[in-house]
Parts: sequence; C-alpha cells; structure tokens
Amino acid sequence: MQKPQNCILTIFGASGDLTKRKLMPALFDLFLRNFMPEKFSVLGTGRTKFSDDSFRESMLEALNKYYSKQKVDKSMVAQFLKNIYYLPTDSKNEKDFEKLKSRLDELDHQVQSNNNYIYYLATSPSLFETISKNLGNVGLQLQGDGTSWKRIVLEKPFGYDLKSATSLNTNLLKNFTEDQIYRIDHYLGKETVQNILALRFSNGIFEPLWNRNYIHHVEVTAAESIGVEDRGGYYDTSGALRDMVQNHLLQVVATVAMEPPSKFEANAVRNEKVKIFQSLSPIDPENVVKQVIRGQYLPAVIKGEKIAGYREEKGVPGNSKTETFVAMKFYIDSWRWAGVPFFVRTGKRLPTRVTEVVIDFKNTPHSLFRNEQTSSISDNQLVIRIQPDEGISLKFGMKRPGTGFNIKTVDMDFHYSDLGTDSLPEAYERLLLDCMLGDATLYARADAVEACWEFVTPILESWQENPEIKVHGYPVGTWGPEIANDLFVDPGECWYNPCGELV
Ligand code: BG6
Repeated sequence: MQKPQNCILTIFGASGDLTKRKLMPALFDLFLRNFMPEKFSVLGTGRTKFSDDSFRESMLEALNKYYSKQKVDKSMVAQFLKNIYYLPTDSKNEKDFEKLKSRLDELDHQVQSNNNYIYYLATSPSLFETISKNLGNVGLQLQGDGTSWKRIVLEKPFGYDLKSATSLNTNLLKNFTEDQIYRIDHYLGKETVQNILALRFSNGIFEPLWNRNYIHHVEVTAAESIGVEDRGGYYDTSGALRDMVQNHLLQVVATVAMEPPSKFEANAVRNEKVKIFQSLSPIDPENVVKQVIRGQYLPAVIKGEKIAGYREEKGVPGNSKTETFVAMKFYIDSWRWAGVPFFVRTGKRLPTRVTEVVIDFKNTPHSLFRNEQTSSISDNQLVIRIQPDEGISLKFGMKRPGTGFNIKTVDMDFHYSDLGTDSLPEAYERLLLDCMLGDATLYARADAVEACWEFVTPILESWQENPEIKVHGYPVGTWGPEIANDLFVDPGECWYNPCGELV
C-alpha cells in the first residue's frame, strides 16, 4: 500500500463534533496501521481558544470516547498527539489567514511537507465560500510549479437546492480547481458500497443479468433507529430528502446502476456515475404525490418507555412539516434500466439500523409451483447489506422437504466477518487516506452534485408549493407510513423489511 507524501492537514471547525467523533479516530487508526505519511501535522483551527496542549487533551478525551476498535494504547496515542497543533482563528477574519499561513510555514519547515496542504472544512456550510476565498486571498490554494499540492475537503451539505449548489461550486472554483476539491460523501467510503463495484465488475456471472431483462426492480433502504438527537435545529431545515437521498442514497443507486468504467480511476468512475444522475427520470410535479411519500415520526411507547415524536425534539418547531422519512419510486432513462423501478427509502426512528440494497430479479416466465396470487413475486433476490453485519445474501426457491411441491425461499449468505479480517475500516479512514493520496474516486464531483440536486429540487419545490401534500405520521419503531407500500403496483409486492430489534 502506497504511503502518502508528507503533508499538513488543517481542520477548520476543529472543536466541533465531527473532529472528535470521526476525524480524530480515523486519523489515529491510520496512524496505528502505518498509513499516515512519514511526517505529518494536523492543525486544528476555529474560534475556540485552545492552546496546542489543551487541544491535545481534548482530542485525547475524544479518542478515549470514540475510538472503538481497541483500547487506546497510551504510548501510541502520545506519539500520535505530538503531531497535533491548534491555532485559534476566526474564519471570517481575513487577517487570521495571514496568521494561519505563517503557522503553516513553521509546521511545513518542521515536517518537510513541501507545502502539501489539505484544508478540511468541518464547519457550517455557510462558511465554505468565505474560507475558500480567504485561503485564496493569502495564496494558500496555490500549487506552485506543480511539485506541491493543496486540497480542500468539504463536508455535506453541498448546497440547499440546485441554485445554491451551483453557486457554491462556482464560488469554490474562483480559488480552487475542480481536481483540488474533495466533496466528502461518507457513504462512498463505506467498505460495502465499494464492494458493490467489486461484486459487479469482478464477477462475470452478474453482468449478463444486471439489466432490465432480468431485474424486476431495485430497492435501497437506509433505516436508522435513532431520532434527530441533538441535531433538531439543523435537521429541521434539511429533512430526509436533502439529508440522505440527494447525496448518500443517490450515490448508492449510481454505484448499482452505472456502466462499467473503462478503468478504475477517479474520472472514469465518476463519468459513469454522472451519466446515471443525468438519466434520472424527472418526477413531474403532478406525480410527486404518487411517487414520493414523506413522513414524520410520532411519539410511541416502546418496551414501556415513551419515545418522543419529531415535533417534541429539541430545536424542532411544534408545527414542523419536515420529513423524517421519505420513500420514493423513480426510473433511470437508459437502455440498461428502461422500465425498471428504483425504490429508495430512508427514515429516522425506524425499527432498526440497516442499510441495504435489494436487487429483485424477475420471476420465471411460467410459474410451475406458485399459486396465482403470488405468481408475480420472484424468489430471487440479491441483498447487499451495507451496514451493519456487512455482507451479501442470495435468495432462491427450493423444494420444502416432504410431500407435495412447496417452494421455500432459502439464503446463500456471505458475511464480511467470515473473511476473518480485523474490523472494517471506517469510511472516514478510507476517504482521508484517499485524499492524502490524491485519489478522488470516492469523492463527489461538482457535476454529480448538481445533477442530483436537479433531480431532487423539483420534489422539494412541489412540497413547498403544495402544503396539502401530506406529511404522513408514523409511530416510532415502525417502518414508516403504510402508504409507502402503495408505491409498488404488483399484487403482493411491498418493501423488503430486514428483521431487526425494536429501538
Ligand atoms: C449523515 C446524516 O450524513 O448520515 C445523518 O446527516 C445520518 O442524519 C447519517 O444519521 C447516517 O450515516 P450512517 O453512516 O450512520 O449510515
């Protein structure tokens, strides 16, 4: 495995939750696995007045709390923390970027990073443009004669709708070039999302079946058992469609649906994905109500405990109409997928946490063993479990032992854990490493982000303009509003609900 060149990673918004929960544990794990550069520094920055030492203390606490793979080894953590620094800055203050530049110069000298810098914007999206502009003002985006590199990593959301996303991209491009911009979609860093590519493109047996001739429909479910927790304020301005579908789930759809790229390289892969986004069949305003179901969780008592409904959550207005659940049906206008419905749903406070892709194959042309009622339902499903218990399961029909000829669906299962590897790398580890290596394959490109917004924005507008489109209530711990099953048309068909514990 290639080791990244020496570099300095500056984290804006370093006192925030993302740094503690995700970035530091990921960097520490890369450090333990010897994937960090020979020499590196992590420079946290933000308005909180930490010193280097107090920031290290805070990061040590975070590692003890959020690094879950193994017990934090004291001597390793001490070595890791020696590379961590902090500089208080206000991202809106241009002068502070001069300070940042000088501090980076000092660190550069120390770690011989050859001016290879990554800027990670773990801040509110309202600061993205300001930070990139201020970096540009002091020349911190310049890559010299091409021997050093500068990369900027942005957390979602990239925009709020098509217009704001386009404007964000245009403004970022005033200071950085597209190949310097790394838009993180942590779903792409998930091992099993990458495994969809391996499954499809390293196995000859699936390719002939992977199209409208053999696939009846595709389902993608991302269920969460948690509610909005302490993110009510943010979530209420977002909702499930923006928070999960526009980015993560459409990326999963593209991974399932894309054509084979000519090579496994960032632009080749992303070119194929963008074609899928551009081929998403627009949902006309009059069809929004039929093709997209929105819901919101209602209070319920689970195992004797009352669980709050969405409108009772902190930061959420008592009359909020924001959706915490969305289920939709759409098509991809392409030769491979013409007429194959894609069903995508996500929600908070569902019975379990699971993300799964289900490929439902068509039934046999003539049914020998089934009764009329169920004859349209096939026994063949390929279930790709993205999380937890990552794996793949193929379902098929077998004769039930005994008299008669009754068919029972059985599973052929593969669990990642059977490979006997250590725990799977966290998405952020993979993505941070790729960024240090300059590999943007698993990052979202501007045109892809815009194409996804182009598909999603008319739905949001339709909801905005037609408040009579119902936000269906669903009690905590259920699979969302029942009406979401009406998206299926064939008799007997409904969502594939993975079994799971109630919240
Ligand atoms: C984030 C969303 O991007 O993804 C959250 O903002 C959501 O609302 C999270 O909970 C889900 O990620 P994961 O990795 O837990 O499936």
